[in-house]
Amino acid sequence: MGPGLYGKYGGRGRPAVLRKRFGRQEGLDPPQGGQDYKSRDGSGRNPAGKAEKDMAFVEFDKVKKTYHMGEVDIEALRDVNFEIEKGEFCVIVGASGAGKTTILNILGGMDTLSGGRVMLDGKEISSYNQKQLTAYRRYDIGFVFQFYNLIQNLTALENVELASQISKAPLDAAQTLKKVGLGERMGNFPAQLSGGEQQRVAIARALAKNPKLLLCDEPTGALDYNTGKAVLKLLQDTCQDTGMTVVVITHNQALTAMADRIIRVKSGTVGSMELNRDIVPVEEIEW
Ligand SMILES: Nc1ncnc2c1ncn2[C@@H]1O[C@H](COP(=O)(O)OP(=O)(O)OP(=O)(O)O)[C@@H](O)[C@H]1O
Ligand SMILES: [Mg+2]
Repeated sequence: MGPGLYGKYGGRGRPAVLRKRFGRQEGLDPPQGGQDYKSRDGSGRNPAGKAEKDMAFVEFDKVKKTYHMGEVDIEALRDVNFEIEKGEFCVIVGASGAGKTTILNILGGMDTLSGGRVMLDGKEISSYNQKQLTAYRRYDIGFVFQFYNLIQNLTALENVELASQISKAPLDAAQTLKKVGLGERMGNFPAQLSGGEQQRVAIARALAKNPKLLLCDEPTGALDYNTGKAVLKLLQDTCQDTGMTVVVITHNQALTAMADRIIRVKSGTVGSMELNRDIVPVEEIEW
């Protein structure tokens, strides 16, 4: 991984940008989420009844998801409420089956909900039709999966270009690969790269779309300890340096130490949500 944009931030503790962000949340500055929300009734209030200025960047409001399996109903999400502010590094943690992937898939427009409401950047994505959801996934969301999901017969550069080509305001594919430390490996196919390198291509692919939100489902689940740390550092640095809002799903409690916001999911509900006042750089976390 190269220095520059993704270089270390200076030492332990909360960087200035985060102090500012949390200051805003405490009411010192106006919030930035929801600026382009247009209320249908012209009242300046969103469907949840809040004034625009009170809206968070991401809002889950009483979200329910029930899967029907023949005679059986599986309540994957029972009543999920949380919010995420713009530019935050958010970790969603919980046991297997708690509902983490279901939450991320709904947030990413890859799954529908059975009840409740989801807002992103002032827009009610839970009311989107299929066409709107396709555009939302294409332009607004970057996804990083556990098993990379790269196209095997395309090079690293071509994998990233494929994603950036469908975006409205893409970043330069080669430049983005350089930023994740793969400037020398752009012509390699996925099979010629290590797991950590493949995941970095996947992150570059997601970032090159210049999305509003980067969603990562167990991004280090297939990686060894040190490689996993390097990938998490890349995600943390990306959030710090570019202001990208990043959501990472994990079952690893230790990773909560690196988050701005920690959302704990338990049996289809949010057990707790907290802001972390002592953010630890990932290289200092042991598990
Ligand atoms: N397509 C589906 N059909 C039926 N049930 C499902 C489906 N997807 C998820 N579930 C169920 O919903 C619940 C939540 O699943 P989810 O995948 O969100 O859990 P998770 O927290 O991501 O778990 P893990 O850590 O194992 O990935 C589980 O009980 C799961 O079996
Ligand atoms: Mg999962």
